Parts: sequence; structure tokens; C-alpha cells
Amino acid sequence: MGQNLNRVENLYDKVAREYAETFSGEHEKKPKDQEILHRFSQEIGDRSPVWDFGCGPGQTTKYLKNLGVEISGLDLSEKILEQARTIHPEIHFRKGNILELKFENSSIAGVVAFYAIVHFTEEQVGIAFREVFRVLKSGGIFLFTYHIGKETIHLDEFLGKKVDIDFMFFTTDFILGCLNDSGFEKIEIIAREPYPGVEYESRRAYVFAIKPVVRKSP
Ligand SMILES: C[S@@+](CC[C@H](N)C(=O)[O-])C[C@H]1O[C@@H](n2cnc3c(N)ncnc32)[C@H](O)[C@@H]1O
Repeated sequence: MGQNLNRVENLYDKVAREYAETFSGEHEKKPKDQEILHRFSQEIGDRSPVWDFGCGPGQTTKYLKNLGVEISGLDLSEKILEQARTIHPEIHFRKGNILELKFENSSIAGVVAFYAIVHFTEEQVGIAFREVFRVLKSGGIFLFTYHIGKETIHLDEFLGKKVDIDFMFFTTDFILGCLNDSGFEKIEIIAREPYPGVEYESRRAYVFAIKPVVRKSP
């Protein structure tokens, strides 16, 4: 059984304004985020389109747009998308579900997903990775982040609002196995310690994974 998506959507609808106020400028305080996003922009070059899945208020979308990436954002929560569109009117944002993507096979050059899997069960992570693999073009890049660990953290309060939601942590072995099972290659997992006073104090990981290039027979 997966975590109920209505519950996730309702959470971000409820905290949309507070989430945008809290997290909009976060990459400025996180040098490793910046290094990783610069690397992504260099590796993706002028390939397009690129999508930010689970984009929230669009801080990562905007960071990459500023680096010249042709990027759009997708999220489950209409209210958080309203925040994203208000803050970044020049960027296209649309509603969608990572677990059931309305994109053609092999149609996207790159996908970023910062902390978009934090509410997924292990089964849903597998579904999400298979969906991302399906929509990526051959040679496409998948960059995502997660909290490292085994725990599930239940919150009754988040950003000053009453909520009822689980945040999932994942082991690196699990993530690696799941990406391999989905067909990704050249998987690189870069772990870091938390920035004290800047973010929730969990170890985090950035992951680069590539959809294999299909070689055409002569
Ligand atoms: C922890 S927030 C991360 C937001 C932003 N990427 C960031 O780094 O701040 C998780 C986001 O993923 C979105 N999300 C969760 N499940 C989703 C799904 N199945 N499809 C699309 N978006 C989803 C939520 O609405 C929320 O905006």
C-alpha cells in the first residue's frame, strides 16, 4: 500500500504559502546544492525539455532556469503551484502525478526531483523510478535527492499547521537496487551531512542516474 496521495496533496495545499516563504531561497544557503545543480546544468547542456518533478514553489526550477536550462515544473498540489507561478511567472508549471506521468515514452531530456520522494513508500519509489525511466529519452539524466536512513517520521504539525503526514527516509542500498531494477546506469550517489541551523538535521544524498543510450544496429 502506498501513502495516500490525497493526504500529500492536502498537506501541501495547506502549507503552500509557509512552504514557499521558508524554502524559496534555500539553495543560496546550501553550497552542495549549488555545486550539484551547476553540474546538472553543464551535463544537460542545451538538451530539452527538462522537468522539475515535485517542484514545490519552484526554487530548484528557477535555479536551473537561471543557469540557462529549459525547464518546467510539475507538482501534485495546485496551491503550491499557485505559489510557484506567482513567484516565477516566466516559468511553466503544471499539475501532475509522478506515479502516473502524462508524458510520452522517451520524451524528456532531464528530470530533477528534489525531495519529491519523501512521502513515498518503498513500493511507490519503485513505481516513480520506472515512470521517470519510461519518460526519459535515451541518455537522459535523472537527478534527485532523499534523506538517508531507515526511519519514518510522523508529523502532527508542520510549518505552524496541524497535519497528519509521514516523511520517509531510505537506505542507499535500497535506492541503488531500485534504480538498477528500473534500468538506470552510471548511478552516482553523493551523500552529505546536514547544514546545521539551515535545514532539518538529516544526512542527505544527491543521485545522478542515466537512462542507457540505445545503440542502433548498423
Ligand atoms: C518535500 S516537498 C519538495 C518540494 C521542492 N522540490 C523542494 O525541494 O523544496 C515534496 C513535493 O513533492 C510533491 N509531490 C509529492 N508527491 C507527488 C506526486 N506523486 N506527484 C507530484 N508531486 C508530488 C509535493 O506536493 C511537494 O510539493
